[in-house]
Parts: sequence; C-alpha cells; structure tokens
Amino acid sequence: MSQHLLTVDSLSRESVDHLLRVASRMEPIAQRHQVTRVLEGAVLGNLFFEASTRTRVSFNAAFCRLGGSVCDTTGFTFSSMAKGESLYDTSRVMSGYCDAIVMRHPDQGSVAEFAAATNVPVINGGDGPGEHPSQALLDLYTIDKEFQRLGKSLSGAHILLTGDLKYGRTVHSLIKLLSLYDPLRITLVSPPGLEMPSTLIDLVTSRGHRIEQRDSLGSDFSDLDVVYTTRIQKERFTDEMNESFQGLSDDFMVNRDFLDNRCSQSTIVMHPLPRDSRPGANDLNVDLNGDPRLAIFRQTDNGIPMRMAIFATLLKVDDVIEKDLRSVRWFVPSQTGTLDR
Ligand code: NCD
Repeated sequence: MSQHLLTVDSLSRESVDHLLRVASRMEPIAQRHQVTRVLEGAVLGNLFFEASTRTRVSFNAAFCRLGGSVCDTTGFTFSSMAKGESLYDTSRVMSGYCDAIVMRHPDQGSVAEFAAATNVPVINGGDGPGEHPSQALLDLYTIDKEFQRLGKSLSGAHILLTGDLKYGRTVHSLIKLLSLYDPLRITLVSPPGLEMPSTLIDLVTSRGHRIEQRDSLGSDFSDLDVVYTTRIQKERFTDEMNESFQGLSDDFMVNRDFLDNRCSQSTIVMHPLPRDSRPGANDLNVDLNGDPRLAIFRQTDNGIPMRMAIFATLLKVDDVIEKDLRSVRWFVPSQTGTLDR
C-alpha cells in the first residue's frame, strides 16, 4: 500500500486482501470486547470541509479505538481557508501537529493536492464527485462478510449499482475496487443524466467484467446478489440541472415491493448513507427496516474495523495489534440497534 490512501487506483488486489484480513482481526476491538493502545500518543487530524456524520465520526472513533487522539475542524468558516490559506500551507501546518490526516473537500483532486505537500499519511474522506476509497473498502468488506454468512462467493456475483452514479463518489471507488476481483456481472440503473462516467465503465469492462445498463428497476433481478443504492447528490447539480430535475421517480425506488417481487430472499441491500428521508426524495425506503436483507447498519458498523485497518496499515502497527490486547471493562449491550437481528 502506498503512503497515502487517495484513490482506489493505488490499491493492488494483494493490498486490498491484506486490509480485509486486518479489518477482521480488528473485529473484537470494534465490537468492544477488547481494547488496544497501539496508537497511544499518536494524533489524527480530521479536516472536514463538507457535511459528514459517519465518515468523520467513524474515522475519529477508529483512531481512538487504536489508542490515539483526534483533533478536528469542520467547515470552511472556522478554518484559515476562510482567510485564503492554500491547501499547500494548510497541509504543511497540519503535518507539524498530526501523525495522520483525513480530509474531505468539495473539489475533486483537492485531497491529492493537499497530500502532495506532506509526508504524513493522508486519507481521502471524499473529494467532491471524485472518490471515497475508505467507503469502497468498507463496502467490499461488508459484501465479503455478508457473502460468507450466506455461503456465496464474490466470483461471478451479480451486483446492481443504482441512484446517482454520476456524482456519487462511493460508487466510483466501489466499481474500481470490485474490478480487481474475478469477473462479475454489474448492472447500472440511474435516472437520465446521472449515468456512471464512461471512463469507469470502459476501465471495468477492459478488466473482463460484464456491465449492463438498464433504464429502470422494473425488470427481473431474481439472480441479484447485492443492490447498492445511492442518494441523488443534488448539492453537486448545476443550476440548469436543479431546474430540470423533477425528483427521483418510483422506477428507481428500492423498497420491499422491489425486493420481494423482483429480487430474491438472499439479495442484500446496501447504501453508503445518508438516505434522504424527505418526502418525494424516493431514496431507499424505510419499509425495509427490520428486514434481514437490509445490510445498511451492518455496513456502517463495518466502517470501524476497516478504518482501523487502514490506520494500522498506513502507520505500520498492523502486525503488533494482537500483542497489545486486553478485555474491556465497561458495559456493552449484546446488540447495538433495537431492530438488529
Ligand atoms: C457518502 C458521501 O459522502 O459520499 N456518504 C458517506 O460518506 N457514507 C454518500 C452521500 O453523501 O450520499
């Protein structure tokens, strides 16, 4: 693995398999059975210049669970970028304070520009419509765990990516990451104008995968293993698109009816979250809450072990974790959510 995690392009199949293995060794810590102090004394800088709940908090929690501490700043208003400071200067300054940096920024390429000014590991927590590599890694880790539970294999699996495939950075990183594995069937369904960029389709096809584009969810998906649905990224629309976009029609809605009548009992449902619960958004329907096929909260939980694995690997403590474990002393509920099964 290279010094930073900025794009899936820098990952080999071996480095991804290594991260998956380290993540599963982190499970007892992530599930709060054991604690470690391998990053005791280390400081993470968490710089978020775009809205975030999961990514910011789970990177923070993952670093703390390895024994480190976190300093963070959110939004442009309270950072010196509001006074015109460049990415270069901010990067050099932060490197004097922190041992690793996670950054989210609205401009594609900005996190790579920031990383070019520092020798401290930088993780891209989302650069505009560009990439979100740690999300793709936790998504792959989720697919792997769910498939193990269901006795399925990734090789030859049928995966549906739906929603905003143009601006959704999670699907950009995920499709590239999946393409490192054995040939898959990938179906893409998005509203007109929000299709997956053709460069990504060409790249994945050139690696031997079968990609099919359909214009709605109205057909047969009975052999589907995973439906990965995404939010419409309206904040990235141009004014013209904002005026013409009428909202997501029912043709693109993933709900119980779609799962029961078009998919199968073993189709799992994923979403990077947040799901847009506002009326008319037609994002992933809440009528699937409590359905065991809905993997979205197992997916968010998986963000902790995977982000711990990323830090441990970048900071080179991935082979000393087991030597440093002890049991937790506080109360931990047996299930995290009230609807968990
Ligand atoms: C996503 C993001 O920020 O790209 N969220 C996340 O990090 N889990 C998806 C989104 O905002 O729709």
